[in-house]
Parts: sequence; C-alpha cells; structure tokens
Amino acid sequence: MKAFPPDKVTLERIFEWARDRIENGPDPRNGAQTNAVLQDRMSGSITTKGLSGTEAFALFTDVIAPSTRPFNHPTSLAFVAAAPTPASFGMDIALSAAEIFAGNWDGGSGAIHAENQALAWLANLAGWSDKAGGVFVSGGTMGNLSALHAARVSYRSEHDNPALGLQILCSDEAHSSIEAVAKVMDATIVKVPTDSNGVMSASAARQVLESSDAVFVIVANAGATNCGAIDDLPGLAALAQEKNIWLHVDGAYGLAAMASPHTRTAFNGIEKADSFIVDPHKWLFAPYDSCALVYRDAAKGAQAHGQKGAYLDTLDKSEWNPSDYALHLTRRARGLPLWFSLVSYGTDAYATAIDQTVSVANAIAEGIKAQDGLELVLGPQLTVILFKTTRLSPTEVDDWAEKQRRSGALLCLPTTWRDQKVLRICVVNPQTDAEYVLGVLKTLA
Ligand SMILES: Cc1ncc(COP(=O)(O)O)c(C=O)c1O
Repeated sequence: MKAFPPDKVTLERIFEWARDRIENGPDPRNGAQTNAVLQDRMSGSITTKGLSGTEAFALFTDVIAPSTRPFNHPTSLAFVAAAPTPASFGMDIALSAAEIFAGNWDGGSGAIHAENQALAWLANLAGWSDKAGGVFVSGGTMGNLSALHAARVSYRSEHDNPALGLQILCSDEAHSSIEAVAKVMDATIVKVPTDSNGVMSASAARQVLESSDAVFVIVANAGATNCGAIDDLPGLAALAQEKNIWLHVDGAYGLAAMASPHTRTAFNGIEKADSFIVDPHKWLFAPYDSCALVYRDAAKGAQAHGQKGAYLDTLDKSEWNPSDYALHLTRRARGLPLWFSLVSYGTDAYATAIDQTVSVANAIAEGIKAQDGLELVLGPQLTVILFKTTRLSPTEVDDWAEKQRRSGALLCLPTTWRDQKVLRICVVNPQTDAEYVLGVLKTLA
C-alpha cells in the first residue's frame, strides 16, 4: 500500500480551481483576516487520521485563499504588486509537479539551461557580454545580500585593510533590504542625501564616499520603491570605476523597464555596473517568488559563493551550478515561469506591456493634476506616483484607503514623502484601467 495514495478527485479540484483562478483572477475584496477568525475556522485541521482531500482543499479555497491580499488584481496599486502572465502561472504549476532540483547542473540541467537563457536576455538588455551570468533567487532581499557579499569578497581580494569595518554606500531612498543586508553582513551603511526627486547624484555620492574610510560597494537605485527614482547610473559607474569599488544596481522593481526600448535609455550606465537584481515577480509578469541576480562577470559571483562537502564531490564543476552564485544550495528552478512566458509571448509582448503600464501611470498622473482637490506631489517616475488630497485630514485619508481596500475598489495606501503623508500608486499591471482608478480617486476630492 502506498504511504500517501493520490486522491484523483481532489487533484482534479485543485487543477480546476487553479485554472479558474488563472483565467479569472482573485476577488479584489479578499484580504487579511484576524488570527482569531482564522483560528476559529481552521482549528483542529491537522489530525492523526487526516481530513478527506475535499475537506482539506475546502480549507484552502474557503478560508486560506480569501484571507490573502489579491496582489495581482488590476486594482492593486500599493507596494509593488504583481501581474503574472497566464503562461507563467501555468509553468509554475508544471514546475511544482516536475520537482526539479535546480541547485546544480546534475539535478536540473534542462531547467538551468532555460533559466540561463532568461538571465542572458536580461544581461543582454543591460549591454553585458556572455561573461555575465547569475541565478534566480527567492527575492530582492536575497539577491541584494548575495550580490553585496560578492562585492565584499572582491574588495577584500584587492584591499588589505581588514581592520576597518566595511561600509555600504547607498541613497536615503535605498530599499529597507539594504539595511537588513548590512546587519547580516555586519557592515555599516553610509547614506547619501537625494535630490527633490529622490535621485542620488554622483557628486553627492562622491562627497559622502570621500569622507568615509572603507566603502566596498555603491548600491544604486533603478526604481526606488517609494518614489520610483533612478539614480545617476553613468555618474555612479564612473565614480565606482575611479575608486575601484563595486557598483550594484538594485532594480528589483524598476529594471523590468529595460524590456522596452522606450524606457531602456533611463538605465544608461548600467553597462558598467558589476551586478544588478530585478524581480520577475514584480514588474516582469511572473509569479512569486523570483529575483534575477546577474553579475557582469559571473566568475566574481562564483568566487564568493558555493558550498563544499564530501557529498558534493561528485558534482561536475565544469558545468553551471546555480548554487555557486548565491547563498543557497537546494533551489527551485524559479526562473522557469519567466522563461516559459518569454518563449510563449515573445519579448515584444514584454516591451508592449511595460509601455502600457507606463502610459496607464501617465494617464493617472494627468488625471490627478486635472482633479480639483487632488495634488500631484511627484512622478510618475517609472510607474510610481505620489499625490495628496487637499480636502481630507490624514485620518480621513486612512479611513478612505481602508474603505476602498475592503470594498475591493482600490488598493492605494499612504506613505511618507519628505515628512508629509501622501498617497502612493505603483502600476505594474497592464490591465489597470486609468479611467476606473481616477473615478475612485475622485471620491477623495
Ligand atoms: C527596490 C527594491 N529592492 C529590494 C526589494 C526587496 O525585494 P523582495 O521583497 O523580493 O525581497 C524590493 C521590494 O519591494 C524593492 O522594491
């Protein structure tokens, strides 16, 4: 008797549910539940004898899924949401069933080859040669950590002043993950003040760099999370080169826009960076979780990473082993959904989808400008817009945001910009309808 016999009826229900969800998307009214409600509805679900498959799956469809935020709905405009393509979702399901070990070539050569094609597409967009390469990791935080570790190893191989604590230079708009990475690495951060658009200039970076003693990496934003700013990449690349330090570009959100020739020019200078990250699960239309980490010279990634152990001695070191390029060993071939989607739709479809989101953001910004009672504060920078209402108090704004979220009308949340409370929109979904969004925003005015 099989230890875990398959339950065909439940499997069919799962596939049916997945197909419906991919075709029709989530219910925008879904959202977090309190722990007490979840406790009430799910207590006793793990039992010695197990529930029936139907009962177990009903917990997922009726309790778990509705208690999650519907990030890929076109009305989800907070944080950096998601908009995976149907093809990428489909491949994610197949990938789960294929159970590929993609940590090394031996376990996952076919999948790794495909992932490397997707990474090469990105490296090529950055203007990098075939010396470039990397790996898909779980998210931007892990990508930043792995890149900065490689930067430190590279720095240490060329500088012999280990007595000094090492420093990461980034802008005051750098993502919170850089601070988290610094803590893990026991490094300190030196912050460069940004201009009124949230951009770090090379001259401001130089000033801070020249009064610091052990900066091993400059982290540039290519699409800052809060405001969409792209730092002065050509200037920072020249500065990094002059000082012989690593330039890492955090493009977790923004670098997706390299996929369109219309927005690619905004990233000029990236050719000279040493590493970048971009999350396909943000604006590259792939599901959670994936971050493409790419090194301009992949060998520098391999110098810093990789694990050794007697049980790994049989691995073929002459082939591409993804575990050599980041902090991990076992890994899912999480780049495959992006690869499959690129193969299915073609890269032109990506350029068009990026252009479409940019024009939706532009249309929303124009509408805000034209609306009495609303004021455009910043943007759009890429697809991030900051704006405020001139009529409601900060508490009323919170109430408004909560009401829109609960009703499923719009997920648009407040943030802080230059000490004032503003509302923030970030568009990553080509299906977002500017007119609809403006209709909801009108209720603020
Ligand atoms: C610019 C930037 N960097 C890094 C991250 C961290 O990425 P993740 O949430 O995938 O760890 C984010 C996430 O929003 C981001 O916007």
